[in-house]
Amino acid sequence: MPSRPLAVAMPGAETFRASADAYDRFVGRYGPELARALIDFAGVEPGMRALDVGCGPGALAAMLVERLGAASVSAADPSAPFVDACRTRLPGVDVVEAGAEALPFADGAFDAALSQLVVNFLRDGESGVREMARVTRPGGVVASCVWDYGGEMTLLRAFWGAAREVDPGRGAAADEGLVMRWCAEGELAELWRAAGLGSVRFGSLVARAKYANFEDLWSPLPTGVGPAGAFCKSLEEDDRAALRDAFRRRLGVGDGPFELTARAWSVVGRVPG
Ligand SMILES: C[S@@+](CC[C@H](N)C(=O)[O-])C[C@H]1O[C@@H](n2cnc3c(N)ncnc32)[C@H](O)[C@@H]1O
Repeated sequence: MPSRPLAVAMPGAETFRASADAYDRFVGRYGPELARALIDFAGVEPGMRALDVGCGPGALAAMLVERLGAASVSAADPSAPFVDACRTRLPGVDVVEAGAEALPFADGAFDAALSQLVVNFLRDGESGVREMARVTRPGGVVASCVWDYGGEMTLLRAFWGAAREVDPGRGAAADEGLVMRWCAEGELAELWRAAGLGSVRFGSLVARAKYANFEDLWSPLPTGVGPAGAFCKSLEEDDRAALRDAFRRRLGVGDGPFELTARAWSVVGRVPG
């Protein structure tokens, strides 16, 4: 087991105070398919009440609405533009502006608390997961997934490989495959157990995204969305052009349509009692 501490401040959360449109064109494309897989993995069934923590513009919350109905779904995120987008997209869902570490819900208010691609951005991962467990009833489920940043999240792996080619020092310092606390197989299970959850089960999920061409993939990055976008935006023009070329070469794509796959690690556990 890794010896890294469970609570690590992760720079990068502020890169999601971004437009929902830029996020949609960036990793948001994978959201609906990933959400369906996470909901199945967690065993969310009609009749349950569920919370989406770190909802972003609402990909997971939208899939929960399909399964449970809007009145049975709540969502929380600290990013004001994402909260606005989620409220607009999902009428009838209770969407609050709040971080995982202090959720404004009563103990045991939900049958399931889920989060998609969020745990690595928490100020304190363990207290965030404990808070998800607090608002879930005894016997209810807490489930999550994070990208396999160091392996089979194709888009981000190719991006950070290109970033390290163009600026080895800053690229390595920002590479999410190196800096994310929970991105290796099994690490989430360690966090779930440390947060007091039982019957912990670990797995992997795969989602796909379609692109019209390389420009379609590249266009959200210079806006600064997500840690990769922030790195891209911080470069001088020449370096950004070199990053673009290296990224495209690593992906092996061009002016025609293509599809990429992305793997996420998933975890589910039960609230004891
Ligand atoms: C990669 S996005 C995932 C968004 C959404 N769950 C999805 O699947 O599209 C990460 C999200 O975590 C949110 N976030 C950052 N810090 C957070 C915190 N302390 N508590 C809860 N969410 C947080 C960001 O605002 C952002 O919406």
